[in-house]
Amino acid sequence: MNIIPYGKQFISEEDLNSVNEVLKSEFLTQGPSISEFEKNFSEYIGCKYSIAVSNGTAALHLCALALNVNEQSNVITTPITFAASANCIRYCNGNIWFVDIDPETYTIDINKLQSLIESKPKGFFSGVIPVDFAGYAVNLEKVKKLAEKHGLWIIEDACHAPGGFFVNSSNEKAFCGNGKYADLAIFSFHPVKHIACGEGGMITTNDEFLYRKLLLLRTHGITKDPALLKENVGGWYYEMQELGYNYRLTDFQAALGISQLKRADKGIVRRREIASTYKCFFESKQYILSQSGIVEGHAYHLYIIQVENRKGLYDYLKANNIFCQVHYIPVHTMPYYKNLGFVKGSWPISENYYDHCLSLPMFPTLTKEEQDFVIKTIDEYYQN
Ligand SMILES: Cc1ncc(COP(=O)(O)O)c(C=O)c1O
Repeated sequence: MNIIPYGKQFISEEDLNSVNEVLKSEFLTQGPSISEFEKNFSEYIGCKYSIAVSNGTAALHLCALALNVNEQSNVITTPITFAASANCIRYCNGNIWFVDIDPETYTIDINKLQSLIESKPKGFFSGVIPVDFAGYAVNLEKVKKLAEKHGLWIIEDACHAPGGFFVNSSNEKAFCGNGKYADLAIFSFHPVKHIACGEGGMITTNDEFLYRKLLLLRTHGITKDPALLKENVGGWYYEMQELGYNYRLTDFQAALGISQLKRADKGIVRRREIASTYKCFFESKQYILSQSGIVEGHAYHLYIIQVENRKGLYDYLKANNIFCQVHYIPVHTMPYYKNLGFVKGSWPISENYYDHCLSLPMFPTLTKEEQDFVIKTIDEYYQN
């Protein structure tokens, strides 16, 4: 049996043709593939505006800049996420606050979020970054109610959840990143994610002001748009109006994204099948403390089990060529965050989750034989 990773990309002939065509065209960057990808992505997600960027971390950084995060800003996220969800606030010298996760969903505990917000004077917190962790869509309707009451903005970190949704109080599917509840949402196109561009990211929003600001910040703060220039002295003229960055995506990456997006829904269907197989097998097993399970609207970037002796299982699987992963080491326990004063033990549910969690292989091209082998090997470990 070949190595079975926890996640990997699938590149089709159509993807290759799509990239090839752009490589032979006039534009390798700043060309028409970018706006085509943005338009298609907006349609898929159900938002008004999309801004393609170089990766998910750049997307987070631009969001923090667009929302004017600075050293006075206090922003909340959860410890069970990739460090970038918190780092973006630190890039702008803001202060991070953590709220523990809900042990059932592994996403931010909204009751604890409310308690933290209400423990401080109004205006203390600037914003919150809920993470649709593993593909589980956070109920942003509830988060939005809190955010509105206390004047917070929301950046939805939807890197794990394009195509995911929760069902809102009007019984509608509220798709991740659709801009109905969050001011801004971000996605990543790293190869292990649903849509692979190599590196790549997207910001989505329904807010035209933020959209325009993000366009400017993505490309050095420079504009050539005659409608925006303070003066216009000739065809060559441009102005740098803000301190921006070069966080652009290339056109050939966008071409790959356009092609991959066409099969995004098919990928989710397959991910849900894989999840269902794991769930059915593991639900009767004593050694499983908890698992992702079957949740309506889950996008299943990851399928997570919690077990005793996780390290033993991880090593045993690895010895059998099954490369699982741990998502995530709680952000507040990282040396950088410890140096900022965060103390281990402060978010016990996240820490307990981390002690037991393991992400199993989950990607659309995982074969039935491979999944059966993963399941059999896990079971074997606990039977011996
Ligand atoms: C939850 C989350 N946020 C942000 C990022 C950053 O995305 P990228 O790797 O594209 O910079 C990732 C990527 O792993 C992620 O999983």
